[in-house]
Amino acid sequence: MTDLVARARSLFAPGKGILAADESVHTATARLAEHGVPASEEMRRQYRNLFLGAKGIEQYLSGVILFSETLLQKGGDKKLFPKSLAARGILPGIKVDLGTEPFPSSPQELITQGLLDLPERLEAYKKHGAMFTKWRAAIRIEGDELPTNVALHENAKRLASYAKEVQSAGLVPILEPEVLYEGRHSRAHSRAVIEEVMHTLFSVLDELAVDRASLIIKTSMALSGDKSGKRDTPEEVAADTVAALVASVPPQVAGIAFLSGGQGPEQATANLAALVRHAKETGAPWPLTFSFARALQDEALALWKGDATNVPAARAAFLARLAAVSDALA
Ligand code: 13P
Repeated sequence: MTDLVARARSLFAPGKGILAADESVHTATARLAEHGVPASEEMRRQYRNLFLGAKGIEQYLSGVILFSETLLQKGGDKKLFPKSLAARGILPGIKVDLGTEPFPSSPQELITQGLLDLPERLEAYKKHGAMFTKWRAAIRIEGDELPTNVALHENAKRLASYAKEVQSAGLVPILEPEVLYEGRHSRAHSRAVIEEVMHTLFSVLDELAVDRASLIIKTSMALSGDKSGKRDTPEEVAADTVAALVASVPPQVAGIAFLSGGQGPEQATANLAALVRHAKETGAPWPLTFSFARALQDEALALWKGDATNVPAARAAFLARLAAVSDALA
């Protein structure tokens, strides 16, 4: 096993997963505003420190995905966040895409930016302690029209080019083609799109000869759209998600991590537990874990409200959610 494969696999240590704490300035501002917290660089530092400074997170977290601003900030322990995480045995990672914008060939769809200066940025991120990376594409479902083949293909090409660059820089890539939960679509449609997205992605990855064993797939669960009026049972989600992935993700990948995508914390945790159970029962070939942002953060943010006196209660809620999500992997 190469060092890179071992590093990728270490993110799937038993009972551990990945916290996504890589909200861009734009997204972090929106998240803080939901809880009445005004945004500034210092408030974003306190926001990160709420989670990254919580005692005992290393029991549940193998890695944390950071945003570039956070790489250079310090926590309450006066250490740079990546150093503080590494000292506790948690791999620091970094979001390297530069966000989405409307796709010129199909403006209702999104295309991810960030390939142009990627090699130079990777060198800088490495210097600041990053051990793995993430690139997110966003795939919208809308009736029979979206996603279009051209958008799927272009997003897959960029994900594959990103993965190639990252591996040659000696870092682990997480490829996140997120099939959005927002919409009126059925769970069957979500399942079919996840499968198609992964098929397209792996055909382009093979064209570029990207090493499968040191890459991680981050995916949505197969869910009825949030405006479909249908709430799936965890067993339904598990069966359709595992079926889509077994049909489209090769067994050699280092593992598959699930995003929460706007599901509530309880829903995401119950669905993850059912997924892991179903994957075990059916002999699915890859290690599985979580890589949630909102489902891990929301309860703590609602308690914190930007007030230092609320930090202990907010951290307790975060640790309780981490423990539940970690239990879901058992
Ligand atoms: P959510 O779990 O909130 O979907 O975030 C995961 C993520 O990394 C989105 O890019």
